[in-house]
Amino acid sequence: MALTPRVFLPAGQIQDRVRQMGQEISRDYPEGPIYLIAILKGAFIFLADLARSIETPSRIEFIGISSYGRGKTSSGEVKLTKDLDVSIEGQHVLVVEDIVDSGVTLNYLINLLEQRKPKSLRIATLLDKPDRRMRDVDVAYVGFQIPDEFVVGYGLDFDEDYRSLSDICVLSES
Ligand code: IMP
Ligand code: MG
Repeated sequence: MALTPRVFLPAGQIQDRVRQMGQEISRDYPEGPIYLIAILKGAFIFLADLARSIETPSRIEFIGISSYGRGKTSSGEVKLTKDLDVSIEGQHVLVVEDIVDSGVTLNYLINLLEQRKPKSLRIATLLDKPDRRMRDVDVAYVGFQIPDEFVVGYGLDFDEDYRSLSDICVLSES
């Protein structure tokens, strides 16, 4: 059976919401720099748009985390695959994530980053699937809450495919 992407959130709607999130973050952080730490790879497009919507000066960093899973579910086992190149001690840190699903990834990452004594530590996610939460995570900025559907595009993948779609799509069997 073939998998067909069906548009769920069109590009224009994503752009509007990301711009609003950038304005809200700019208001909340009058002083920079904000260290925007994006989780590879899924958050790279959201990061690019969000960073350009934030007026407060920011710095861009990447961190790699694998949840050991291929396909549509995380294995629940988390591993750091690429660490930060800089110290975040005493800095404002905003973790930028594509989607919070079980919460396992962010729960692990927040515990790790807290040990490094940032001045503040918050999360911005484009998508949130609250139905599937297994670990508690406190997310300060959410773009869209979505139902329990597997989505691709705008950075999100299914086995590394579909990341470059401008819309967010549901993958359905046809
Ligand atoms: P969590 O640890 O279960 O919260 O998983 C978060 C990670 O799983 C995200 O960063 C994504 O890489 C991946 N993920 C969860 N749901 C989806 C989805 O619907 N589409 C694509 N990737 C997803
Ligand atoms: Mg991810």
